[in-house]
Amino acid sequence: MTEPFSPAEVIALKRDKHELTQQHIDWFIDAYMRGIVAEEQMSAMSMAILLNGMNRREIVQWTNAYINSGVKMDWTNLARPTADKHSTGGVGDKITLPLAPVVAACGVSVPQLSGRGLGHTGGTLDKLESIPGWRAKLSNQEMFTVLQNCGAVICAASETLAPADRRIYALRDVTATVESIPLISASIMSKKIAEGTQSLVLDVKVGSGAFMKTVEQARELATTMVGIGNDAGVTTRALLTAMDVPLGRTAGNALEVRESLEVLADGGPRDVIELTVTLAREMLDACGAPVHADPAEVLTNGKAMDVWNAMITAQGGDIHASLPTARHSHDVLSEADGVLSSLDALSVGVAAWKLGAGRARKEDIVQAGAGVEWHVGVGDSVTRGQKLFTLHTDDEARFDAALESLAAGFSIGDSVADRLPLVIDRIV
Ligand code: URA
Repeated sequence: MTEPFSPAEVIALKRDKHELTQQHIDWFIDAYMRGIVAEEQMSAMSMAILLNGMNRREIVQWTNAYINSGVKMDWTNLARPTADKHSTGGVGDKITLPLAPVVAACGVSVPQLSGRGLGHTGGTLDKLESIPGWRAKLSNQEMFTVLQNCGAVICAASETLAPADRRIYALRDVTATVESIPLISASIMSKKIAEGTQSLVLDVKVGSGAFMKTVEQARELATTMVGIGNDAGVTTRALLTAMDVPLGRTAGNALEVRESLEVLADGGPRDVIELTVTLAREMLDACGAPVHADPAEVLTNGKAMDVWNAMITAQGGDIHASLPTARHSHDVLSEADGVLSSLDALSVGVAAWKLGAGRARKEDIVQAGAGVEWHVGVGDSVTRGQKLFTLHTDDEARFDAALESLAAGFSIGDSVADRLPLVIDRIV
């Protein structure tokens, strides 16, 4: 086959700040998947995009090229409308776990294709895999059956969903080209559009523990993704939410499942409940379907827990088995009287990661029981000697590095330091 362009010619256009045409973009991604564009050429293109950006048309076409590299899923045979949410990732962000059953219990189907964690943010699949027997990998038919019977399914994306993104994301990870708004937007939105959901709510995190450190960056990312989704016919909205402070009271796989179960049993930390209910209401509103119940109500009357039990059981999980616990734990006590003035999400995330809850490389195995629990929240009074944190790991040698990260991430004082509101903005 004669190729219409050479890889270097197309890279040079972006290097020199020109716009790429649809033909350039379609060819470049397709040629990469055929082995004509080499890994180093895709790396060079990713860096050119990171440095010189893309306009809205180019981002939409880059996203479509990712989608067209694989197979698009279709849920039109389901009896109920579909809604999904995507979080850009944070520390202690276990919201998907209670959210999917809550929305399903209100009458909407939730096909939630999730990922594994890399670095200091946890992955939904890693958390669920701490449940004995639970299986992340389902065939498309199994996904459909779980969705139809339970109302929600949380599982791994198949290899055929936007495969170009899968390869390019791995390349960006090792070429310092992750932090590009066009590339992040195309990566996230291609998977969500290919997943076939009718509506989507994006939870774009802002703060030290998030990809986006400032509200301005997060707003730009959210606006770009909302535009791509709506252009593709997926009703898309975004909330900008706080990730300067970690969510809830735990970071770590089994620890976060346990906390999610508390929320589903009408308990749990206030911020986790508030964000779950807020996102659920957005999802129900975005899909425009008649709603059977209010999200807060299905947490209190046990209906969301019923969906959880059915969904976990359908994927092989044993809902009666105890969750794994780590072999060793270590408490951190307060050295002063006062209030917990600040708690930094990134420091807690890094501590959990160093304890074994996260992975440094894709191949690493995570510890189910590892992580950090904080027994007080920002603004709570503390007294000298009071237990502030418990660290958990299977490997005692990990405590020192985790303690070092944590020590730099909290302060006890007279008052609460400035922090972001839980929900900062809404973009439609
Ligand atoms: N998550 C993704 O799926 N892709 C990115 O590029 C960044 C975060």
